[in-house]
Amino acid sequence: MKRLVGRHALITGGARGIGLAIAKAYLAEGARVALADIDTARAREEAGGLGPDAVAVEMDVSHQDGIEAGVARAEEALGQIDLLVNNAALFTAAPITEITRDDFERVFAVNVAGVLFTMQAVARRMIERGLRGHIINMASQAGRRGEPLVAVYCASKAAVISLTQSAGLNLIGHGIHVNAIAPGVVEGEHWDGVDAYFARWEGKEPGQKKKEVGAAVPYGRMGRAEDLTGMAVFLASDEAEYIVAQTFGVDGGNWMA
Ligand SMILES: NC(=O)c1ccc[n+]([C@@H]2O[C@H](COP(=O)([O-])OP(=O)(O)OC[C@H]3O[C@@H](n4cnc5c(N)ncnc54)[C@H](O)[C@@H]3O)[C@@H](O)[C@H]2O)c1
Repeated sequence: MKRLVGRHALITGGARGIGLAIAKAYLAEGARVALADIDTARAREEAGGLGPDAVAVEMDVSHQDGIEAGVARAEEALGQIDLLVNNAALFTAAPITEITRDDFERVFAVNVAGVLFTMQAVARRMIERGLRGHIINMASQAGRRGEPLVAVYCASKAAVISLTQSAGLNLIGHGIHVNAIAPGVVEGEHWDGVDAYFARWEGKEPGQKKKEVGAAVPYGRMGRAEDLTGMAVFLASDEAEYIVAQTFGVDGGNWMA
């Protein structure tokens, strides 16, 4: 039996990678989905190939107008939003002595303020309309530890875990479940960018860092976007009814190691 029939999902950063894989899994479980992304052309192209239950929505979560406009567009296209996957994020890396204020603010605007105020905009609508619903924030193993070159991204993902705890406790009184997923290292364009940062700061050959981190995962390989979809479906489903304010690692054992 399909588990998400009748659900309407807004997925930020849905044009590629993990967000897109989750969108496909939600469609397969009977939901309608909005791929909300700053890369509107790609979101449109992907949505076009996914059938009538997928729509593309222009959304920039780095500022308030972009959030309000994106949520309003998604609501108009879907009829309502009862499921939010706060997935859009930026990565950055630098030694502490080289971090710039501009880069910190750029990353926190998307990874932290973007998550908080998208959650707020969607929760306000759910409450106004009397909808019970689910919000899933995309954290990271990076939010559970420090990494020498990754202070800003790690701190931003620690903030996602913390926001999930507070919002989870606050919104469950309205029947809105807030939880998070913490992936480990996942193949794709995001990690191609991560690899380039390590090539710069650790003097590695392009591709070398990726090989090293993949080999170090206890499961035996890097994650794939599809590895995250089982948890994303479960947390959006009725089976997760009693789960509140939690962050779940889906990382092949990587963080524990
Ligand atoms: N890939 C990994 O190894 C990994 C590991 C841990 C956590 N994560 C987290 O999982 C999530 C998805 O990762 P991914 O690998 O699919 O990343 P990705 O970089 O491939 O995709 C991110 C998407 O977000 C969109 N985006 C960026 N800025 C935006 C903005 N201001 N407004 C709207 N959309 C914006 C991008 O256009 C892109 O489509 C992120 O939150 C990331 O931090 C990824």
